[in-house]
Amino acid sequence: MQTVTTVAALRRQVSLWQARAERIVLVPTMGNLHAGHLALVSRAHTCGSKVVCSIFVNSLQFDREEDLATYPRTPQEDLDALQHACTDLVFMPEHDEVYSEQYQVDRNIPENPLCRELCGRYRPGFFEGVVEVVTRLFHMVKPDVAVFGEKDYQQLLIIRQLVRDLGLDIHIEQVPTQREEDGLACSSRNAYLDPEQRALAPRLYAELVSVGQQIRSGVHTYTLLETQAAHRLDQAGFRPEYVSIRDGNTLEVAQHESGFIAVLAAAWLGKARLIDNFLVRFR
Ligand code: PAJ
Repeated sequence: MQTVTTVAALRRQVSLWQARAERIVLVPTMGNLHAGHLALVSRAHTCGSKVVCSIFVNSLQFDREEDLATYPRTPQEDLDALQHACTDLVFMPEHDEVYSEQYQVDRNIPENPLCRELCGRYRPGFFEGVVEVVTRLFHMVKPDVAVFGEKDYQQLLIIRQLVRDLGLDIHIEQVPTQREEDGLACSSRNAYLDPEQRALAPRLYAELVSVGQQIRSGVHTYTLLETQAAHRLDQAGFRPEYVSIRDGNTLEVAQHESGFIAVLAAAWLGKARLIDNFLVRFR
């Protein structure tokens, strides 16, 4: 496994591979790797012949200094895990390398209104920061495939739209959410939970599953389902930001005839902001 920190070194290696017609798969991460990230790496191996993983804590997508400063960083453990997962190359740049003017991407991306919805309403600038860094990473790595998790479902759909808007020839591969045994979605932010909060945390997913099951069984009062679920989370000790029932393909407000529904939520538990979703396919 090679580890590089500069775009020049990254390009040197990837160009050599591309000249040999290797299929390059990128897995973008912010490090502090867990089973969710490793499932992405494992899927990446089935999508191409060389797997590149980036580890970069993107300051542009943090709205609070404190969140950026305390975001868990475990570079050595991450490298060990990636080596074990047979990653071919790890790209671990510093901030200035990624945001050097040299790599300013010349583009004209239409604003995606989805960036202002759901998590975007509560974290202004967050998705714009994600779009900025992912665009740069796509131009730096020039992958054939990039792998993203369903855990961040809104992010996944925004990236799919980004690829269409930029006209990039990159296939976006999506991987189901990896969970702890009790159902809690694996997340770097779970580390912020104390033991009591950790015990309560799986309730978030349980609520989403319960809403999804009611929808599946024909309940159509979506607004009521959303309010009731948020209320139960609040009663349980969460501070919910939203519980929302959306069309699974577009994340527009769900219509009763939508054949694919996403139930999404964001809720604070102590210092941790947890997000999760449950996807319901009817047909
Ligand atoms: P990060 O939170 O490190 O997540 C990196 C990738 O892992 C994302 O595609 C995310 O959806 C996926 N992931 C996280 N937890 C998961 C889980 N439990 N199951 C499956 N996949 C999971 O998302 C980001 O970083 C950043 O926004 C990034 C895209 C790297 C841009 O900075």
